[in-house]
Amino acid sequence: MNRVKDKVVIVTGGARGLGGAACTALAAEGAAVVVADILQEEGRQKASEIVDAGGTARFVLLDVRDGDSWSEVVTSTVDEFGGLDVLVNNAGVVLPRTIEDATLDEFKNVMDVNFFGAFLGIKAVLPSLIARGGGSIVNVSSNSTEMIVPTTTYYAASKAALANLTKTTALHVAFKEYGIRANSVHPGPHATDMLGNPEIAELPHIKAMRDAVPLGRFGDPAEFAQLVVFLASEESSYITASEFFIDGGLSRVSYAGR
Ligand SMILES: NC(=O)c1ccc[n+]([C@@H]2O[C@H](COP(=O)([O-])OP(=O)(O)OC[C@H]3O[C@@H](n4cnc5c(N)ncnc54)[C@H](O)[C@@H]3O)[C@@H](O)[C@H]2O)c1
Repeated sequence: MNRVKDKVVIVTGGARGLGGAACTALAAEGAAVVVADILQEEGRQKASEIVDAGGTARFVLLDVRDGDSWSEVVTSTVDEFGGLDVLVNNAGVVLPRTIEDATLDEFKNVMDVNFFGAFLGIKAVLPSLIARGGGSIVNVSSNSTEMIVPTTTYYAASKAALANLTKTTALHVAFKEYGIRANSVHPGPHATDMLGNPEIAELPHIKAMRDAVPLGRFGDPAEFAQLVVFLASEESSYITASEFFIDGGLSRVSYAGR
């Protein structure tokens, strides 16, 4: 119950889905959680759920593309909770396009959220983590860095860039002896709202994707959340600059079918 007791955590895209599950799990393990999202209603709801369950949370409106908003969120977090220990860069968007259909404007939009949004977040929190004497940055990438699908032109590039930003950051802060670690998490398909909906889950192409997972099912967001808790906690104190795949083995399959 106390794996991240008294740690102060910002989770972007924390209103729902994988980020929402991470907020719930981090709070259940004793963290004060800042649910940061563009979705006000769902974000407030998530924070209230946590508080109703006896945890500590508050919602902040944050568009990760906006550097000024990042500064405000970090300042208000430190003012309210006395410091900051963990950033979970989880906000992300998907826009499927092949290279033939891709446009520069759309590509930039996806990069702005998935990659530059996380970059702005790291830049914004770094002085507070240094002042605290340490911390953990968890960047939510994707197994699409390994599992190449033609329609992931924007997405796979943004998530691969994020994975490498994680490593350059991790080495810099390690050599500086700031006590800060940075790792990336690479989920495969998880049963969030979309895939968790039974009607969608039984569509032939979704079923085929599920059958391709060696463990034979999609991930539960609560399972993803446990990995985030681990990386946020001192249990992972010797782990940095690493990639964690949580995809039931999907990205390791080197043949077609089971
Ligand atoms: N669900 C999966 O199967 C899966 C697989 C691989 C990777 N991921 C990654 O996990 C993360 C969460 O995915 P999810 O499935 O929970 O998606 P989701 O769409 O349910 O949640 C994403 C959250 O990010 C927020 N968001 C989007 N743009 C934002 C912005 N500009 N500023 C602030 N918040 C913003 C959304 O409002 C939403 O709450 C994403 O980075 C996604 O790429 C998910």
